[in-house]
Amino acid sequence: MAKSDRHQEFPLAPRPAGTPLHRWLHAELRRAIVDGRLKPGARLPSTRSLATQQVVARATVVAVFEQLQAEGYLAGRTGSGTVVAHELPDRFLTAAKPAPAIGRVVPMPPPEDPGIRSRVFSVCEPDSGTFPLALWTQLVARRLRLSGATLFDRGDARGYRPLREAVAAYLRTARSVQCDAEQVVIVNGTQQALDFIARLTLGPDAPVWFENPGYPGAAGAFRAVGAKLVPVPVDAQGFDVVAAIRREPAPRLAYVTPGHQFPLGVTLSLQRQLALLEHANRRGFHIFEDDYDGEYRYDVRPLGALQGHDRRGRVIYAGSFNKLVFAALRLGYVVLPPDLVEPFLALRDCVDRYPPTLEQAVLADFFREGHFERHLRRSRNVYLERRDALLAAAAQHLSGLLDVQEPPAGFNLVGWLPEAIPAIRAQARAAEHNVQVTPLSSYYIGKPVRNGLLLGYASAKPRAITAGVERLARALASLRPSGRDGRRTQTSISPRR
Ligand SMILES: Cc1ncc(COP(=O)(O)O)c(C=O)c1O
Repeated sequence: MAKSDRHQEFPLAPRPAGTPLHRWLHAELRRAIVDGRLKPGARLPSTRSLATQQVVARATVVAVFEQLQAEGYLAGRTGSGTVVAHELPDRFLTAAKPAPAIGRVVPMPPPEDPGIRSRVFSVCEPDSGTFPLALWTQLVARRLRLSGATLFDRGDARGYRPLREAVAAYLRTARSVQCDAEQVVIVNGTQQALDFIARLTLGPDAPVWFENPGYPGAAGAFRAVGAKLVPVPVDAQGFDVVAAIRREPAPRLAYVTPGHQFPLGVTLSLQRQLALLEHANRRGFHIFEDDYDGEYRYDVRPLGALQGHDRRGRVIYAGSFNKLVFAALRLGYVVLPPDLVEPFLALRDCVDRYPPTLEQAVLADFFREGHFERHLRRSRNVYLERRDALLAAAAQHLSGLLDVQEPPAGFNLVGWLPEAIPAIRAQARAAEHNVQVTPLSSYYIGKPVRNGLLLGYASAKPRAITAGVERLARALASLRPSGRDGRRTQTSISPRR
């Protein structure tokens, strides 16, 4: 090891037998920085002199310096004045809690008393703690260091091309979506895609087929342009196409969540998918396919997208990274039929011009280097464990009070209440027991057809879920009238029209 007189200034532990030189030098320098032996702003020896001191090839030292720069530990130009970075990534890596920028989804509307209300069953709220924040920090630092000015120029209205290519390749394999990068437009989330499509395809009083119950964010986007929502019942096969045609044979748009209906969680049967496409072809309207959580399927193989069956350019397919990666990222994508690409881009030019490049470039790296798939696999296991914790606790404590349905996918499950316990009362009583639950009635247009609750299970750890179920059970039990009627729950999701 180093024997020069500078050894005292730059002490590195001896290299363990079998450890490659590059890995040893990287680990030692990183440790010296993290331990504070090399302070922020401290100047490092030149690569040449360090190579001589440590008896390693200069190319090895250059490669290690570049890696440490990419990771955010070193700053300055390699070889000429390299210094320890002032802001070390470990400040983020070791934080007990995620930084507020990637904090949890802001509730809408906020709970009246967040200090008291437990958000253990928060709907559609993944756990940002599952996200590999340290890795993301490194990718951001590397991008900023290595990309130079190209990141700061005007962006592409369709989105950053390498990200669009990565998304197109991913959707073709994982979701059987037929697309190339030219049809993929990066948006700030599904909500922006809904807004743009509403403006492009609808207008005052334009009829839209809308799942009932359904996603309020989509309803809001359609109402904002004055469109007329045509509520369509959802049963065990999903969106009821026959009922839709009976109610309005010539809609201007259909909005569906075929992979995993929001909020009921059912899958649109293949027969109905084909019937929906056939009617859209005959009448010439578009279908908005919101594939909001297609990635999180637990027990069965993920279904291919409806868009994969579309031969005539009817389906607009949208997905989001805001749940898969983290909420504050605000990036998603839409795969447009050819006739909508130019109008969509022209509208975007009037609204937000193009998405921010740095986040897209980092996300493209996250994809290209396999981190996205690894993160999905890991977080799917985490949510599966939480789902099973909720199912087990419900089996133990909620029998006769809430009939929970095992969800094959996603972040939420539906529980049917006894007819004698209206969901709104259940919500209020649960709040008194420090549990926040969401009545299904909040997703219905008009009078709710079913009496149930939607419980999220992704945001809390199994222990908190079990404790939440126990509190919920006490709350519901306190509302249960004595006698058999109160114990009857709605057990199937057959339509009641
Ligand atoms: C069914 C559904 N679609 C779309 C969205 C919106 O996604 P984004 O955050 O990407 O705008 C949500 C958000 O909760 C959702 O639940």
